[in-house]
Amino acid sequence: MAAPNGAPLGADSEPRRALRVALLGCGVVGTQVVRLLTQQRADLAARVGAPLELVGVAVRDLTIAREGVDPALLTTDAAGLVERADIVVEVMGGIEPARSLMLSAIAAGASVVTANKALLAADSPTLYAAAEAAGVDLYFEAAVAAAIPLVRPVRESLAGDRIKRILGIVNGTTNYVLDQMATEGLDLDLAVKQAQQLGYAEADPTADVGGYDAAAKAAILASLAFHTRVPLASVHREGITGITADDVAWAGRTGHVVKLLAIAERTDDGVSVRVHPALVPASHPLAGVHGAFNAVFVEAEAAGELMFYGRGAGGAPTASAIMGDVVSVARHRVLGGRGPVESKYADLPMLPASAAITRYQMRLDVADRPGVLSQVAAVLAGHGVSIEAVRQAPQPVGLDGEVAPAASLAHLIITTHAATDAALAATVAAIAELDSVTRVVSVLRVEGA
Ligand code: NDP
Ligand code: HSE
Repeated sequence: MAAPNGAPLGADSEPRRALRVALLGCGVVGTQVVRLLTQQRADLAARVGAPLELVGVAVRDLTIAREGVDPALLTTDAAGLVERADIVVEVMGGIEPARSLMLSAIAAGASVVTANKALLAADSPTLYAAAEAAGVDLYFEAAVAAAIPLVRPVRESLAGDRIKRILGIVNGTTNYVLDQMATEGLDLDLAVKQAQQLGYAEADPTADVGGYDAAAKAAILASLAFHTRVPLASVHREGITGITADDVAWAGRTGHVVKLLAIAERTDDGVSVRVHPALVPASHPLAGVHGAFNAVFVEAEAAGELMFYGRGAGGAPTASAIMGDVVSVARHRVLGGRGPVESKYADLPMLPASAAITRYQMRLDVADRPGVLSQVAAVLAGHGVSIEAVRQAPQPVGLDGEVAPAASLAHLIITTHAATDAALAATVAAIAELDSVTRVVSVLRVEGA
């Protein structure tokens, strides 16, 4: 029988009975959780103070061979499985049935460890409330930046400080894709296929390339950092599907790298959270984050700037974070006590994305004749957007560095000083109307300068 309300399992003199662990899902992450539970059985028992016994693994398809997993543990009866566990590890993903199963597990007195950022971002209040009512733990270190300890530092280590800003790369797939585009010249679709094969991508990689996964992580981090519920709908989200090989090549020519960034800020007016691709100066530490690695800067009032870096996706790195949580919740089962509950007391207002202040780089194809630059500059000035730098390539330059045949065109690269999203959007719309402007080729934010 599970020990509800986090009660210790027995007096110190009694031998500890095994804690029953149920696993929901046995794919990329789940198989690695089974491996760690199995291979590190003795160490885990010593660290927890009681053995951890895997009592079942819920899957959809019993016929799939799963390396290192005892077939006798596999079941399609996930609902039955969660009723007979002390700890439920949810790595099936998606909203349902994951949410219902986790709620059933909690109601039955089990603590829950999950990597499911999509569900947490969509409905963490329901899960928090259920866990608090049942007196059990809800842990989710693996939901943000996989192996990197980030949830715990934000939720616990920095709980005595005031976090002002979080900026970083929180999606391994898109970082891998952008990196492959920049370093190997791969196109986006091929790079995404590789990320899928390597186990980095979500079941539907649209979640990655569309920025949904990063937005979910940003909402989770911002909620923890600012003690405020940050609904997913309040996160401004842009993915990388609009990023072309041309954008990546031009980023390099102008001393930048394209990265998908998550940025959460607390200002005097409230909280702003956004996810979008941005140009990062090649000299910035984020520019050196390659492959599926993640890196996140956290800026707190007293601590100053902290940087967290490591593997942000993949089975084993994610399983590492999950097992850390399993040990924590298992220790609570053995020794008593509980992990943190939801902290939402600050209840700060959400700010619209249009208020976000950033520098921008825009690339324009324009008529190569006198006066064009001053026309464009006038539009920028008219909208209160100040120019930091202008560069002109004589003609549009192709991907391979070949100049395009249209000899009467020039390519303008304009970097602005900081402006609001709203001012920039109005500026770009007005520039696009100019007769001398053939095409607004791209507009990208510049961060980290
Ligand atoms: P996979 O698609 O590889 O595995 C999902 C597993 O869940 C499969 O074993 C599948 O069963 C099982 N499953 C799905 N739906 C059901 C259901 N209705 N009933 C029973 N079993 C079900 O996903 P991942 O391992 O990559 O990801 C799992 C979770 O971890 C997701 O929430 C993801 O966002 C998160 N995560 C993933 C990371 C990664 O790098 N992959 C990193 C951090 C978090 P079957 O095998 O029979 O199809
Ligand atoms: N698909 C996710 C990513 C997995 O690529 O970052 C880790 O959360």
